[in-house]
Amino acid sequence: MDLSTTYMGLSLRNPIVVAACPLSEKVENIVAMEKAGAGAVVMFSLFEEQLLRENASHADIYRQGIHSSPEALSHFPDQTDFHVSIEEYLEILHKASNSVGIPIIASLNGISESGWIEYAVQMEKAGAKGIELNIYYIPATVNISGSEVEKRYVDVLRAVKSCVSVPVSLKLSPYFSSMAHLAHQLSDAGADGLVLFNRFYEPDFNIETLKLMHILHLSTPSEIRLPLLWTAILYGRIRSSIGAGTGVHGSTEVIKYILAGADVVMMASALLKHGIPYLTHILDDLRRWMQKKEFSKIKDWRGLMSQRNMDDPTLYERANYIKTLKGYEPIALFDN
Ligand SMILES: Cc1cc2nc3c(=O)[nH]c(=O)nc-3n(C[C@H](O)[C@H](O)[C@H](O)COP(=O)(O)O)c2cc1C
Repeated sequence: MDLSTTYMGLSLRNPIVVAACPLSEKVENIVAMEKAGAGAVVMFSLFEEQLLRENASHADIYRQGIHSSPEALSHFPDQTDFHVSIEEYLEILHKASNSVGIPIIASLNGISESGWIEYAVQMEKAGAKGIELNIYYIPATVNISGSEVEKRYVDVLRAVKSCVSVPVSLKLSPYFSSMAHLAHQLSDAGADGLVLFNRFYEPDFNIETLKLMHILHLSTPSEIRLPLLWTAILYGRIRSSIGAGTGVHGSTEVIKYILAGADVVMMASALLKHGIPYLTHILDDLRRWMQKKEFSKIKDWRGLMSQRNMDDPTLYERANYIKTLKGYEPIALFDN
């Protein structure tokens, strides 16, 4: 059975990619990921704020307009909050690249166009076979329009593309007014891959202390619906590869994302919960499903459930919405 796939021009033995998460902070974990069957690994991110703090004065950070006020920076993580320094990051990347045969994609996480992008070059030199850009940007100002936000994404992508020769992907937020149009713009600007989607970690409130809480809950399979929708809509419409992720906890989610049209499927929470060897179990289940369905290659069924392959494409649009609402049966408990 052939599980091989191509993701942003890289040949992978199978479509399961370990998403950026702390598991890649240790070289031995990356070796274990390869052993358990991962097709590729995205390393945890280096953050723009970490890079700027390590290399520039705080004044530079304000000048770049990243933070709304000097006070904002006092709440910001300091260098000790980042487990791994930049040098250590590059060293892990270098060692891991020499220790495994699967591609390692390095991750840069930021929002501005300068000051940190050159680290992509260092990542490439350290052995990264690709760069994933995570632009986690909350435009919490009334002065910036949707098209300016989109331009920022395109500009950051172009800036990184111009300084490296390895493929570059963008991990996107789902919150754009015209997702398909933005995806198209990014694809035209040279994005080798789009990762759908970045998971948002909105703050919570503690109503006793009246403080904000920053708690990370691992994902659940029910979270696949939004990336699944956009994977299905974008399949066949953009040149960039599609990496789908969020909510992958078993082979069912992997299969759904590939049916929608993903080139690769990314997972973090399930591996944090069950451990790296869990990958083997998912791959075995994937093979069993393909055998049952008599598919011998991934490309035989990738995108089968995409919008372009549906008899009725409106089922991904308002028709789905109306059918879902109208299909709901209130439970008997409320019957008079
Ligand atoms: C503990 C933890 C740390 C993460 N760190 C990063 C990171 O450094 N960079 C990044 O782009 N995504 C990071 N993510 C997000 C994951 O890469 C992934 O997009 C998200 O968890 C959704 O996938 P999942 O449902 O398989 O967990 C992190 C996720 C978790 C749970």
